[in-house]
This record gives sequence, C-alpha cells and structure tokens, in this order.
Amino acid sequence: MNHGPVTLADADADADAEARARDAGVPVTNFDPECDPAFKEDPLGTILAAQQLGDVFYSTAARGFWVITRYDLYKEISQDPARYSNCETFTFYRDPPPVFHLPANLDPPEHTKVRKLITPLLSPAAVKRLEPRARASVATIADEVAARGGCDFMADVALRIPAEVFLEHMGLPLAGADEIVATRLLPAKLNASNDPGGVQLAAAVAKVRGMFEEVLADRRRRPADDIPTYLLSQQLDGRPLTDEEIVQLCYTLLGTSLGTTASTMAFLFKLLAENQALRRRVNDTPQVVGGLVEEALRCFPAIPLVSRTVQGDVDFHGITWKDGDRLLLLLSAASADPDLFPSPEKMDPDRLPNRHLAFGLGPHRCAGAHLARMELRVLVEEWHRRIPDYHLGDLCGLTHEVSVAVRMTTLPLVVGQAAAP
Ligand code: HEM
Repeated sequence: MNHGPVTLADADADADAEARARDAGVPVTNFDPECDPAFKEDPLGTILAAQQLGDVFYSTAARGFWVITRYDLYKEISQDPARYSNCETFTFYRDPPPVFHLPANLDPPEHTKVRKLITPLLSPAAVKRLEPRARASVATIADEVAARGGCDFMADVALRIPAEVFLEHMGLPLAGADEIVATRLLPAKLNASNDPGGVQLAAAVAKVRGMFEEVLADRRRRPADDIPTYLLSQQLDGRPLTDEEIVQLCYTLLGTSLGTTASTMAFLFKLLAENQALRRRVNDTPQVVGGLVEEALRCFPAIPLVSRTVQGDVDFHGITWKDGDRLLLLLSAASADPDLFPSPEKMDPDRLPNRHLAFGLGPHRCAGAHLARMELRVLVEEWHRRIPDYHLGDLCGLTHEVSVAVRMTTLPLVVGQAAAP
C-alpha cells in the first residue's frame, strides 16, 4: 500500500486508470468532496446528484478513484473482500499519511477474528444495558435546552449524547468529554487543503493513542468494568492482545461511536424543525419513531462514502480495473437507487421494506448499528416528551465538514413554534 510521497509512478498509475476509463466509455470528472465548495453547502445532495453521471465514473481528484453509485454494484463489491480489500483508510490527501484502523483495515480471515472480539461489546444485549444511560442523558440535556429556550443542536445535543453514553464505557472521563470529542473528531476535519503534510492529523492521532495508553497502564493495575479492561482479558490466535492492538481497537471504537450518530441526529432534527406535520406525527404517534429512524439513516447517512482497493486485475462489467486501483462507493446514492427505493427523494417514515445501506454490507458492516439505532430512537422519544415544538434559528453560519463522513458544523434550534410570517 502506498503511503509515501506522491511519485511519478503514482502519476503514471492515475493517467493509466483515466485512460482505461475513457477506453471503456466511463465518464471522467473531478468529483472532489473535500475541495469542491458545493459539498460543504449540501454534501448529501451533491453526492446524490453524482448518480446522474453514471453507475460507475472515474474521478481525477486526489489520487484518482473510481466511483460506484448503484445498489447492486455496491453489494457485489462489498461482499467480495478477496477481490476488493479494505486495507487502506481512504482520505482525499494526494500524499496520505498512514492511518490504520483495527478491525476496519483488515481483510478476512484476519478481520473475522478481530471483529469477533468487539461484537459482544455492541450486541443488542450490551446496547440494552446502555439504554438507561442514554435516556438519562437525553432527559438532562433536553431539560437544559428547554430552560434556555434554544441550543446549538450539534454541540449541545448531538455530540454530547454519544459521548455521555459511551465515553466511560471506553475508560475515559466524562469530565474531559468536550476535549476528547474535539481531538478524536479532528482527523475528519483535516484534508489536503487545510493540513497538506498531514502534521495535524498525526498529532491528533498520537494524542488519542496516548490517552488509551494511559488507560491501559492503569487498568492493568486496577481492572474496571469497561472496554479496555475487557480487551486486556481477550485472546487472539491463542495469545493475549498486544497493547498496540488494544489501542488501535479503542481508537476505532471511540471515533466511530461519536461523530457518526451525532451527524444523523442533526440532519434528522433539522428536518423535524422544518416540518411541523412530521413533528406532530412524532408527538401524536410515537410508534412512528422506529420507521423515522430507519428513514433518517437512509436519507442522512453519516458515512455516505466507503472505499475499497482492487486486488489483482479485474474485469468489472467490461471495465478493466488493475491491482491497487481505488474505489469509492457512494453508499448514500445506493440507498437512493430508484430500483429498490421508490421515490427515493421522499423522506417516508412508513417506507417498507427499507433495506438502506447506511451501515454498509458484507464483513465490514457497521459494528455499532444497534447502538446508533438505540441512541437515535431514545433521542427522538425523550426530546419530544419535553420539547414537542421547536424551529430553526439563524442558519447563516451553517456549513458541513466533509471527508468520507459528513457532519454539520452547527445547527441553531429555538424552542417553541416559529412566529407566523
Ligand atoms: C448513524 C451512525 C452510524 C453510521 C451511519 C455508521 C456507518 C458505518 C459504515 C458505513 C461503516 C463502514 C462499512 C464498510 O466499510 O463497508 C461502519 C463501520 C464501523 N462502524 Fe459504524 N456507523 C454508525 C455508528 C457507529 C457506532 C455508534 C459505532 C460504535 C462503536 C460504530 C462502529 C463501527 C465499527 C467498529 C466499524 C468498522 C467495522 C469493520 O470494519 O468490521 N459505528 N459504520
């Protein structure tokens, strides 16, 4: 895998891939979610619009990559890890610094063994045990918002809930939550334009790793009821996990548990704040919440893009892919494939079936899906018990952070109905 500086060989490989795309009649464009301002304005809409370019197209952005927009093609790729590897953490850097995520960057059979270690931590039973904590957290936060008359939903609600539910479980102090969340989410804000050499990225990764190294040293002396202690007791291939493996797993679990769910929470609450009829439905018929959460996941996936790397040369429906070619799979576009989702542009809480791809498919399917669903459901239920009516505040500062994940930077909400115009 190439993590070194950009070389002439890389440039040749890009030109070769572009030439193969043109030979196969595949559209070539500059699809660049990190640098194109349209993505900051409306990331999910801009990604969806890319469907119009074709089922597959080639982007010359960053180091060059093939983009896949259709459900069945996405399914074919994500369920064939031998041919389409997840060994690289995709970034839009031209010269990407090495970032390794365990278990995400392993392929089967190694991936299967490591993934089994974390499955019990996020099982339905484990998530059920976290639900009272989630309810208490939303109740306190919503009461505070009601008393203040409004909030920045992103900072005051969406980013706080996942942290309050999961941080102590990760062995980290709730008292330092704001700083921990900011540090762990910083890498998603960095890219080729604001951190060209990856210096800030490396520093943020090192800081989070350092926190877990301290936690591990402490748990060796004083075991606790948390994930680092559990991982210290686990075996891989008949030996205890190394500190490096535990730190890697904790790094991944912390990052994936925080910003993702927060992102979908904010998109959903923006929609609810704008739509009085939908709010009324949630208030009057709480049974709609399950369907609403699924449709929010389909329409507002926190990770609308996932990547794979081609292993060996492949003929993909008449297109020649070569060893090392990078693929970017537009999950959100696949979840809006009209063949599977009639009127995909319509946000419909009654949509059944709703086999959206917000959590992916195949061996790397999201390990935290039960936790994310529970937090979203509990937020909608407990919030509306306390704050049935609310509307958007001044959105003039609203923009989005965009990498493979997307997130609003702020979302001002005001409690109560908007004054009639
Ligand atoms: C709305 C919230 C969430 C969404 C939309 C989401 C989505 C995803 C997606 C699309 C993937 C990658 C699938 C692939 O590469 O094919 C993923 C992986 C992962 N997610 Fe989530 N996620 C969410 C919340 C969470 C939470 C709360 C956790 C809890 C820790 C979590 C843990 C993970 C882990 C560990 C992986 C790596 C799995 C592997 O490679 O085996 N996620 N998630």
